[in-house]
Amino acid sequence: MAVVLGIETSCDETGAALVRDGVLLGEALSSSMDRHARYGGVVPEIAARAHVEFLVPCVDRALAAAGLGSSAVDAVAVTAGPGLATALHTGVAAAKAYALALDVPLYGVHHLAGHIAADVVDAGPLPNPLVALIVSGGHTSLLLVRDLARDPIIHLGDTLDDAAGECFDKVARALGLPYPGGPALDRAAHGGDAGAVAFPRPLTGRADAPYTFSFSGLKTAVARWSERQASAAGVAAVPLRDVAASFQEAVADVLTAKALRACAEHGVGDLLVVGGVAANSRLRALAAQRCAAAGVRLRVPALRRCTDNGVMIAALGDLLVRAGVPSSPMDLSACPEVFL
Ligand code: KG4
Ligand code: ZN
Repeated sequence: MAVVLGIETSCDETGAALVRDGVLLGEALSSSMDRHARYGGVVPEIAARAHVEFLVPCVDRALAAAGLGSSAVDAVAVTAGPGLATALHTGVAAAKAYALALDVPLYGVHHLAGHIAADVVDAGPLPNPLVALIVSGGHTSLLLVRDLARDPIIHLGDTLDDAAGECFDKVARALGLPYPGGPALDRAAHGGDAGAVAFPRPLTGRADAPYTFSFSGLKTAVARWSERQASAAGVAAVPLRDVAASFQEAVADVLTAKALRACAEHGVGDLLVVGGVAANSRLRALAAQRCAAAGVRLRVPALRRCTDNGVMIAALGDLLVRAGVPSSPMDLSACPEVFL
């Protein structure tokens, strides 16, 4: 049984973890999130410099947590893409250095496949087949997975513009909420009336785009609505929590409707919801409700496995090693735009 070191540096989280045979041995995570806060979004150069600073200490902490020395590592897996170019290059360069120094195979892996693999360490093997809804700050994708380690992932649909998390972040900003906006908006919506404002459900009911998402129009709709409210003298203001709940409802409605349609049309009985936005309380509740009604089993990883971390990459690397998948060449380079 091989010990796989996983390294994740695609955005602002620096993650390292060790997984052996589906068991998490140790992990460590550092984030440059607070360094981006005043810019209202992740600044690639700041993220890359932080990875350089954090990565080796992170690997050391993960090894210490596992009670292992680096000589125990049998393979290194690293996010090769997609992600921020300079951030990815840092991780790939470090992973190559570890693989060369330790004389072990290197696996360049897909960040989204990592999100799907993340909770294997908590909840055991993934069902086959499954539909995966990946909703993060950078991605909104519906994927059909037959066997994560062995078969290519079938890409059902993506967003035409903003990712769901990006939409949360931008709407939160428009509503005056702090960065990162997703969790702040989720908290602000607590106890709000989701039916207070009828925000649009973009691209729903479209036979020509059943799995395609679009969130920039929704973001604009919230911004316009807020502006109108601000200038409408004498009109009773709608409380922030109702606006936040109404927006959150629109996003959760679109995401779950399309995900369940994908399950129905492909005869799949398992839905996995992952990525940072999977932390959203309304998305979780609505997905649970609609899955129960449709007889679909829902799997949503624990919150700490939903956002970027090293565990997801180590878990995926471990699946690849166990499936006997060939390792990557040592001239592997980061692929910021890599697509399924
Ligand atoms: O997966 P992730 O950590 O990083 C990317 O790969 O993008 O996702 C981060 C995104 C951010 O846009 C953040 O605002 C959003 O996930 N997010 C949430 C919540 N928690 C994090 N969005 C809505 N509700 C939440 N509770
Ligand atoms: Zn991610």
